[in-house]
Amino acid sequence: MLLDTHDLKTIKVGLVGLGTVGKGTLEVLCRNQAEIIRRAGVKIVVTHIASRDVQKTQSIIDNMQSCVQKPKVHANAIEVANADIDVLVELIGGCTIAKDVIFQAIKNQKHIVTANKALIANHGKEIFELAAKNNVLVVFEAAVAGGVPIIKALREGLSANHIHWLAGIVNGTTNFILSEMDQKGLNFEDVLKEAQALGYAESDPTFDIEGIDAGHKTSIMASLAFGIPIQFDKAYIEGITKIQSCDMAYANELGYKIKLLGIAKNSSNGIELRIHPALLPKEHILANVNGAMNAVMVSGDAVGQTLYYGKGAGSEPTASAVIADLVDVVRDINNHSLGRVPPLAFQNDALINTPVLDISEINTRYYLRLKVADKAGTMAIITSALAQQNISIRAVLQKEQQNKSQIDIIILTDIAKENDVNNAVEYINQKINPQDIVKIRLELL
Ligand code: NDP
Ligand code: HSE
Repeated sequence: MLLDTHDLKTIKVGLVGLGTVGKGTLEVLCRNQAEIIRRAGVKIVVTHIASRDVQKTQSIIDNMQSCVQKPKVHANAIEVANADIDVLVELIGGCTIAKDVIFQAIKNQKHIVTANKALIANHGKEIFELAAKNNVLVVFEAAVAGGVPIIKALREGLSANHIHWLAGIVNGTTNFILSEMDQKGLNFEDVLKEAQALGYAESDPTFDIEGIDAGHKTSIMASLAFGIPIQFDKAYIEGITKIQSCDMAYANELGYKIKLLGIAKNSSNGIELRIHPALLPKEHILANVNGAMNAVMVSGDAVGQTLYYGKGAGSEPTASAVIADLVDVVRDINNHSLGRVPPLAFQNDALINTPVLDISEINTRYYLRLKVADKAGTMAIITSALAQQNISIRAVLQKEQQNKSQIDIIILTDIAKENDVNNAVEYINQKINPQDIVKIRLELL
């Protein structure tokens, strides 16, 4: 320890929510206090905590050996927003009580650190406006990709660039599920339970598996990358619940892995903002991001492609991002440099309302699996449906199957417009009414 901490200024923190991330934050803040002081130049001390179960919370704090300065525990989170604190750390989640507490704290001129992507994606605009009016900071590194400092990279590290696109695996739960299904042949429900037990999943796991959580994160990243308002309501979102193990096996056989990707592209006619499962070539770096790990690839005109990789969920990895934000806020308070970095990377009056494209307008490649009757002419109908839409076929897979009236035909297309693919699928449906048609986008990035 190089600094004499006796005369150091103390920054008082109110922490609301002592669940997976809240506990990790308190633990790491206390355990690494000396190292954090060396970086921040002040003591960061949690003085107030809100949690619904006061007794349980009190005993968690009492048992935390590294936590020597015991915070006051409140059952009502609004009391923390009204307490004598400098910064409020919101780790409750959701858009109800968390929103009320943040609004109250901002009105009381407290700075905000939050990991709440749902709140930022849905109410970021109101929150940033209120914060600007009250001259306080709102920071949210932990809201995207857990411990991976992707917000900092987009907001500061890549400021020189015209960013063309970004693509990421930003939901640990779904990446964990897809990886375990692929590598160990485990079933969806069992792996989801394990992800919940490990603290990766949202309190409502449908947010994870239906792609909503990745949608929140990708909408936030798109805003920071392109200087557009956060437009979660315009994002195209598809989760992983329809992915079957046979699709993973066919993809493997054809040289691909299936991942849930969040993609944002700045194209000449608008922004692509889409979150869906996608086939990626096996050798692609994102195809090799497994378990609860996250990775985001960002392509800028000056820097080229860059990659940000690390633990996207869990107690201490997320606490790492929360505390990094706290240190940033403390430095800005100390240096009287509030507002040095705009919340969405671009100056507030420089955000541009570039339209988000409808998914039918995008162009990419496609994997189609059709479960069809094993009879003459079936393949001809499928290929002519694609030909009518001017869609070129890059690969076809059909296995000889004994004693089965229905067979799987797998097709990989060349680049095609989504609308044309949908037309072809509709035509096939009308002509031969397949038992199953699965369409998964294939990305080469
Ligand atoms: P948890 O559900 O584990 O924790 C939330 C905590 O908030 C619980 O302890 C809950 O208490 C408490 N809480 C709920 N309502 C109130 C209230 N009215 N007053 C005080 N406390 C309340 O969630 P996480 O820690 O996993 O997530 C917190 C935030 O971090 C969310 O926004 C999440 O999206 C985000 N996040 C989570 C990551 C992760 O890996 N888990 C990673 C990145 C971000 P009770 O125990 O009584 O329900
Ligand atoms: N539920 C989220 C995930 C937590 O699984 O990635 C991290 O934001």
